[in-house]
Order: sequence, then structure tokens, then C-alpha cells
Amino acid sequence: MKNVLVTGGAGFIGSNFVRYLLNTDPKIQVVNLDVLSYAGSLENLRNLSDPERHIFVQGDICDRPFVEALFRQYSIDTVVHFAAETHVDRSILGPAQFIQTNVVGTYTLLDVARTLWLNEKLLGDQPVHFHHVSTDEVFGTLRPEDPPFSEVTPYQPNSPYSASKASSDHLVRAYYHTYGLPVTITNCSNNYGPYQFPEKLVPLMILNAIEGKSLPIYGDGQQIRDWLFVEDHCEAIWRVVTKGKLGETYNVGGNNQPPNLEIVHQICTILDELKPDSPYRPHNQLLKYVTDRPGHDRRYAMNIDKIQAELGWSPKETLATGLLKTVGWYVENKEWVEAIHKQSDYQTWIDKNYATRDKGRG
Ligand code: NAD
Ligand code: DAU
Repeated sequence: MKNVLVTGGAGFIGSNFVRYLLNTDPKIQVVNLDVLSYAGSLENLRNLSDPERHIFVQGDICDRPFVEALFRQYSIDTVVHFAAETHVDRSILGPAQFIQTNVVGTYTLLDVARTLWLNEKLLGDQPVHFHHVSTDEVFGTLRPEDPPFSEVTPYQPNSPYSASKASSDHLVRAYYHTYGLPVTITNCSNNYGPYQFPEKLVPLMILNAIEGKSLPIYGDGQQIRDWLFVEDHCEAIWRVVTKGKLGETYNVGGNNQPPNLEIVHQICTILDELKPDSPYRPHNQLLKYVTDRPGHDRRYAMNIDKIQAELGWSPKETLATGLLKTVGWYVENKEWVEAIHKQSDYQTWIDKNYATRDKGRG
């Protein structure tokens, strides 16, 4: 058995990754460490394919004694680190928790791994691996004429979120170069798919449109993201963990770069077809321009040549197929939506983030 510690495995990508791992390799036991913040939920972990190989532990990655005990109890040999504060708008309104979780939390995990794996030789000579899941936002923003971000693009984070992720990436790199901790890093673009908390663009637009609420477009809606279906991201991460070169970083992206406005229109068109009896058709009548995000990055795009050439990974879903699956999933999973609305701070957050934005153009 391989004993894989997945941090943040009750969140969006983490829970998809837990499913992916259980389906991919019967010789893996998953220990899922998650604090169950507003963004994490056991609702995301229902109906796993092989629940005996999944151990859920509620706890904080910043709690060193707790993390150390977990490494010992389950003889952890691999860490795939997702746990983080992840919403840019929340980082603008309250950066402190981002520094704590993303910087101090990542440091704590790295230092426990170093102490137990390298100093104490907890697992003897058995291979060990620490994989850090990061973001394209560490590279900052692109002008229209700039080439996509590559693995050697300098870091220029622009939000408290991206600055905290950049700091965590630097710590991971330092633990490789200074102590020889066997690490890899992936920097990935915007994910979408099932189980995404509805504060992020895609699920927020789907659920608001279903309920006939306005669809808040920040600024002019011409900002560009590089969209990747979440299962493609999970496959890329596992490819890097199993085949990647230690000490290396790999860019992961979807080769889909529409402006925000276009992605929202696509969601509306899919809903028009899936819900022909909706009183809100055509759903794009709900679009509303609102005040922009401060420091809003204009354009992201990922050059994924390295992971394609070295590890043979490419995204399988196009934006059209991935969005159809995603919108269909939110339409069909009303119970999940209701549970998430009830158990999180969802409405408080919506009131806080959108109340002062409501003076837009449309
Ligand atoms: P998410 O917000 O949906 O989930 C984060 C999870 O981490 C939650 O389950 C939460 O409870 C848990 N968590 C938070 N603080 C914790 C702590 N102190 N201890 C233990 N668990 C804690 O996030 P996501 O969108 O799934 O992102 C996962 C990772 O992938 C993050 O590191 C993020 O930076 C990175 N990433 C996300 C995207 C994206 O588009 N969503 C793209 C690239 C990279
Ligand atoms: O690029 C990877 C990053 O993608 C991840 O590292 C982050 O964790 C993840 O949250 C995401 O960040 P973004 O800020 O790009 O995602 P978000 O869904 O918040 O916004 C996507 C775009 O849509 C962005 O340009 C802002 C815009 N937007 C967002 C919301 C929530 C709107 O126009 N209206 C909205 O209501």
C-alpha cells in the first residue's frame, strides 16, 4: 500500500482528486486531512468508489503536533497538498487567513516531512514525495501581446491570495534545494467542474441563472482565464507525482482562453437548452455589469509544452464538453447545492462581496 496524505481533500479539487486516486490505483490508501472551512464539506465525499481505502481526518495543517502524529500513525509516504484559502475576493477583504493557511500551513507540512522523512528516517529508505498544488496567478498578469506563462516566467503576484501562494511555492523550492526534500510543484490555471464552491465564477453564474438572480460581471468582462476541467487537473497532478522529475515545476492549463463574458454567455446558452421551461430564458438577460475587483489581473494563459513533452499529459475536455458536464451536474445535484448553501457562510459572503458592487452599468 502507498499511504497518500491529501490535504484539503474535502474541497473542490481535493475531493475530485480523492475520487480520481481511489479509481486509479487499488494499492493506494488515502488519508484526507481537512479542517472543513467554509469551502470544505463531507458532502463532497459521498459515494466514493472504495470508501475503505479513504480515511477522513478533520484537522488543521498549521497544527504541527497533529500533523506529525498523522504522519506516524499512517506511515505517510506521499503528500499531495491542496489545502489553502483560495478565493481572490476573500483575500482582498481579509488577507490574514491566507497568510496563515497558505504560508504557515505549507511551511508546517514541509517541516514535518523534512523532520520525519529526512532526519528521523521514519520510513527508512522507502521513496517519499511531497507534491505542492499551486496556481498560475503567481505569475501576475499578461498584456494581449505577451506569450503565455512558462515555468521560467518570473513571479509577479498581484493579490494577497497569489502572493501567499507564491510564498508557499518559494518555501517548497527552498526545502528541495536546502534539505533535499523530494518535491514537485504544479502551477495550474482556473479549474471548473463538479463540487466547486459557488463563490467562484462558473458555479456562481450557473446557480444564479437557475434561480433568476443577476449575473455579476466585474468591470468590462473582457478578462481572460485559461479554463481546465477539474478531472484533467487531477490526472496531471498524479502524472507529475508518479513520473515527474524531483525539484521541477510543471505548468498545467486547458488551452481554453475565452473572455469572462463569453464563458458566462456559454453557460446561459447551455441552461436555455437544459431548462426549456425556465421563466428566466434567455438566461443572458440576467447579466449585470458591476464594480471591478481591485488589482484585477487582465489575462492568464499557460504554456503547457513541458508537461506535454516530458510526461505526455494533455487536457481531454474542451470547454464545450466540460461546461456541458458541469452545468448538467449543478442542475442535477440540487441536494448538494441546498446542503452547501445551508452549512457554509454562503449568503453572508454574497451579501458582503456584492452589496457594495451593485453600482454597475447594466
Ligand atoms: P477550495 O477552496 O475548494 O478547498 C480548499 C480546501 O482546503 C477546503 O476543503 C478547506 O476546508 C481546506 N482547508 C483550508 N484551510 C485548511 C487548513 N488550515 N487545514 C486543512 N484544510 C484546510 O480550493 P480548490 O479550488 O479545491 O483549490 C485547491 C488547491 O488548488 C489550492 O491550493 C489552490 O490554490 C489550488 N488551485 C486552485 C485552482 C482553482 O481554479 N480552483 C487553480 C489552480 C490551483
Ligand atoms: O487561475 C487559477 C485561480 O483561479 C486559482 O488559483 C484560484 O484559487 C481560483 O479562485 C481562480 O481565481 P480567479 O480569481 O480567476 O477565479 P474566480 O472564479 O473568482 O473569477 C474568475 C474571473 O471571473 C475573474 O476574472 C473574476 C471574474 N468574476 C468572478 C466572480 C466571482 C466576475 O466577473 N464576477 C464574479 O462574480
